[in-house]
Amino acid sequence: MARILITSALPYINGIKHLGNLAGSMLPADVYARFKRAQGDEVLYICATDEHGTPAELAAAAAGQDVSTYCAEQHTLQHDIGRAYGLSWDWFGRSSSPQNHRLTQHFANVLEDQGLIEERVDQMVYSVDDRRFLPDRYVEGTCPHCAYTPARGDQCDNCGRLLDPTDLKDPYSAISGSRNIEVRDTRHLYLLQTKMEPQLRDWLATKDDWPTLPKSIAYKHLDEGLIDRGITRDLAWGVPVTRNGMPRPGFEDKVFYVWFDAPIEYIAATQEWADNAEDGKARDWRRWWRTDGGADDVRYLEFMGKDNVAFHTVSFPATILGSKEPWKLVDTLKAFNWLNWYGGKFSTSQNRGVFMDQALELLPPDYWRWYLTANTPESSDTAFTWEQFQSAINRDLNDVLGNFVNRILKFNETRFEGLVPDGGEPGELEQKLYADVSAKLADLTEQMETIEIRKSAQALRDLWVLGNQYLQEAAPWTAIKTDPARAAVIVRTGLNLVALFARIAAPVLPFTAEKIAEAMGEPYPHSWPSTDAELELNRLPPGRPVRAPDVLFRKVEDAQVAEWAERFGGAEA
Ligand code: MF3
Ligand code: ZN
Repeated sequence: MARILITSALPYINGIKHLGNLAGSMLPADVYARFKRAQGDEVLYICATDEHGTPAELAAAAAGQDVSTYCAEQHTLQHDIGRAYGLSWDWFGRSSSPQNHRLTQHFANVLEDQGLIEERVDQMVYSVDDRRFLPDRYVEGTCPHCAYTPARGDQCDNCGRLLDPTDLKDPYSAISGSRNIEVRDTRHLYLLQTKMEPQLRDWLATKDDWPTLPKSIAYKHLDEGLIDRGITRDLAWGVPVTRNGMPRPGFEDKVFYVWFDAPIEYIAATQEWADNAEDGKARDWRRWWRTDGGADDVRYLEFMGKDNVAFHTVSFPATILGSKEPWKLVDTLKAFNWLNWYGGKFSTSQNRGVFMDQALELLPPDYWRWYLTANTPESSDTAFTWEQFQSAINRDLNDVLGNFVNRILKFNETRFEGLVPDGGEPGELEQKLYADVSAKLADLTEQMETIEIRKSAQALRDLWVLGNQYLQEAAPWTAIKTDPARAAVIVRTGLNLVALFARIAAPVLPFTAEKIAEAMGEPYPHSWPSTDAELELNRLPPGRPVRAPDVLFRKVEDAQVAEWAERFGGAEA
């Protein structure tokens, strides 16, 4: 039994996420976690809300709430909506937790002890009317590269370039709109990443097995030359800056930068998980994160969108390696491209695209899980379209999986009294089926193992198709008239296929799998099957009562597509 630690990028607290966020980190992480649990491994899947920084403060202000109330409410919303999608987090924490405060301050302290943190005087944008500094998104203005307005202090949304607040032309305060802006000196802490470059290169060199996407992004940053990174900000909401456990003189009105504390929350959230053990079982976070505490044999996987890769291959490892403490580092990093909305981007401000809460008002979670898994933006960006969504649901879920389950179970009800038929010997057709299914099961297991999400969905669908082809060819409705023993074999095999389909679908379609399992009298959650189809397709005990589950899927009608395209801004995007 292996031990597998899984994290997915922490969603920002500033509102419910859209389907692109779900598809590009949390959902694939969940599919993998469920697969590994089914294989009998010990899995810990950790996620949390990323609660600091100017996006949180601005969103709270826009909602007319103080930031801590806002974050508490949004955390609950994001937690509940994630659960509604079946995201099987072992813990969904908060980067504003006391655990993360402590741990972030600890890391800053040891990094300074290692000579990797230094105070520098910086020039920062100051708003005279607001009587405060304006870090990151608190200042807007015109992009110095493409002249787009409003570009934000940390990034231009038009040309995508990273910016420094002092780069903006014609800056104004995002808080008050005031243009009474000065540039003033202020002290900040810098993480001396330049000193870390050789160590980071040595570490990355051990990651031969990483896919191209994360590797190329990591090396691009190293080759362009690392820069020392400001890790504090002039903000009130965040982790206070301390030194040796005491407030750091001159830093009373500052906090650590959100990108410094956010990845540390992966560890701190695991501490939250341990501190919240209710079941009387002691939970030991060190077993997962400290190589001197038993984490040596843990395999740690991170899931994220491509914009997060630099932070996970350079910044966070710099924190970990620089501490010289025995923390666990990432073993496998799975990065995703963008899920777009038609030709453009999902946009909160322009209300374009579907958000996680809205999607569940339209259809049950497994519909979305299926579409987003089968269309994961893996090797390139992918566009969501209602037309594709409709065809994935109607073709794959309704015509292939749902129809198969329903047809064989209904036939069994009318012809075999709803009991798994006994008697007869498997023949040539079954032997061929065993061979085909065995090969596909091996393929599916391999794709799941290597986290090829799209190919996993493809293999899953191929297996469902094999079942349909078998049933079509074997034609129990004809056999029943002349050769009842033969019909019994076919129906028994078909029912075993149903049970097998539920087991292999469970990581992607957990709700459907549970429904099917229940109808088949099978335990849930299931274990992952072997690749021996002859064995797996002769498991159901003859005589066991089974029944057709309630409707598994409904078709998506053209009228619905038209209505949703109108409501969510489809084709014209
Ligand atoms: N909140 C960030 C985003 O949405 C991701 C943070 S991941 C972590 O892009 F590393 F900070 F945890
Ligand atoms: Zn620009």
